[in-house]
Amino acid sequence: MKNFTFQNTTKIIFGKGSISQLEKEIPLDRKIMLTMGGGSVKQNGVYDQVVSALQKHNCIEFWGIEPNPKVETLRKAIALGKQENIDFILAVGGGSVLDGTKLIASAIPYNGDAWNLVLDETLIGDIIPFADVITLPATGSEMNQGAVISNSASGEKYAFGSAYPQFSILDPETTFSLPPYQIACGIADSFIHVMEQYLIDKNNAPLMDRWAEGILLTLIETAPFIRKNQQDYEQMANFMLSATMALNGFIAMGIRTDWATHMIGHEITALTGLTHGETLAIVEPALLRVMKNEKRNKLLQYAERVWNIVETDEDRKIEAAIAKTEQFYRSLPLKTRLSEHGIGDDVCQEIVERFRKRNTRLGENASITADTVKIILEHCK
Ligand code: NZQ
Ligand code: ZN
Repeated sequence: MKNFTFQNTTKIIFGKGSISQLEKEIPLDRKIMLTMGGGSVKQNGVYDQVVSALQKHNCIEFWGIEPNPKVETLRKAIALGKQENIDFILAVGGGSVLDGTKLIASAIPYNGDAWNLVLDETLIGDIIPFADVITLPATGSEMNQGAVISNSASGEKYAFGSAYPQFSILDPETTFSLPPYQIACGIADSFIHVMEQYLIDKNNAPLMDRWAEGILLTLIETAPFIRKNQQDYEQMANFMLSATMALNGFIAMGIRTDWATHMIGHEITALTGLTHGETLAIVEPALLRVMKNEKRNKLLQYAERVWNIVETDEDRKIEAAIAKTEQFYRSLPLKTRLSEHGIGDDVCQEIVERFRKRNTRLGENASITADTVKIILEHCK
């Protein structure tokens, strides 16, 4: 096991009706900026619940943080926050609204351009305190420090580290209005967050393995029920908690992590706009096939413990586990090939070029070069 320091400072407030707790969670003397997306929270009543809980507070609103939040939009929120001297931000929406809020909170006290902070998080100094009402289980952003921001001028999309939300409100009823496609992408995203931390050979942390397998199995078991009825409170609650636990550091103690699927997926989104979870469902099975020798022991464990595959030939066992994984993504339902989205060689070549220029080496052993990415993308076709 590797040495590690663990601290996660986010308070989780979970369950039906929990939005009403906003009233006592934010001090009355705070000037709050509410940040929101394109309007889903107005349609599903979440906005009304937030406004009702904060009727004694002093609030201003910023709308229009889009999926894959753009720095161009966030600059406007930063300017508004500075002008109004806000000292608390409440994100109400999905991971994009919350990620955007993490940049807004980091950039209001900063004098330069917000994009500098995405490129170099060491420039981040003071951060305005923020919290969220999360309405889409997927990113784990509600209990981690990460945020992923896009730049439409340069066509780039990068992750950076900001701060933990002070608290996060998770009411599974807010997810009842989600489009089924977003649920499918959210399940795939959560599942692959776990896989990027679990499928690593020589991670000598058996407790982490068992926790990771617990989340994977919960998602596999829950997904068909959600597909049948996304207003089943208990099933949505299981999904919501799984998504949070998948990327809040709890399964990452003392281990090495991969994240190559995410790095390649982010490039696909940056170039084509394809939704995050679906890019991962395309890249991950291909990556596992290409990297199966490095991940051999853990893939064999995954085959046995998660998919109950009984097979003596190791290569056949691994391929069966990867095939089951791909079938799981297809059952959500998601497409798992680039060609199904009309994404062709031009995009693949551009991605490989980008990694080559940056001299990036991805994966737990930094062994995935631009040439390996090219082979992985061939397997995605
Ligand atoms: O904009 P609105 O109108 O709110 O609609 C959103 C959006 O169109 C809608 N939605 C959200 N909650 C809803 C709802 N519609 C109906 N009912 C609800 N309850 O769903 C659409 C997608 O929302 P978005 O926030 O973009 O999705 P998600 O939460 O999956 O976030 C995706 C972003 O997170 C990044 C991704 O790269 C992408 O930019 N990630 C962030 C991570 C992190 N912070 O740790 C890690 C992840 O790996 C990921 O990269
Ligand atoms: Zn993700």
